[in-house]
Amino acid sequence: MTNVILIGFMGVGKGTVARALAKESNAYAIDTDDLIESLENRKIKDIFVEDGEPYFRDLEKKTAKWLEKNVSDAIISTGGGFYKVKNLKKIGKIILLDASYEYIYQQILAHPNAKRKLRKRPLLQDTTKAKALYKERIPLYKGVADEVIMIEGKSPQKIAKEILRLLS
Ligand code: S3P
Repeated sequence: MTNVILIGFMGVGKGTVARALAKESNAYAIDTDDLIESLENRKIKDIFVEDGEPYFRDLEKKTAKWLEKNVSDAIISTGGGFYKVKNLKKIGKIILLDASYEYIYQQILAHPNAKRKLRKRPLLQDTTKAKALYKERIPLYKGVADEVIMIEGKSPQKIAKEILRLLS
């Protein structure tokens, strides 16, 4: 299997589903935000505060190039804005995890670590702006995705199995 790339809005559960899918398919799960944090030795939130969003987007592009060149047979979860990198299709098969804004927001709030989950995401701080960003991005995500999975009401394991079925 070539790489599988999970895209979608912040908080939709890309990392959790990536790990469930990795377990199901005996592959490694990696996350673009984790790669960026390790490259920079600081948190995403600090990169935004100290160097701004354009600098972070450049790091996403750099990471995408690195993935294309160096990674295969992995499950790659991405930051919510990673779908924009030009070489995404060359990295692997792109799966969109889709859900309504309300569902995603409720999922975050219901999480035991809700406060931390909100705090670490600079673009979720202002609800009006976050909603507008969601609205703007959904058609763009759909435009780039090879497959779309509606995740509402499904466990990460169920979503992983659905992805495997789609890929087989
Ligand atoms: C972002 C999503 C975040 C992170 C950064 C920007 C975005 O990742 O990459 O805060 O532009 O949607 P998650 O989707 O994992 O929250």
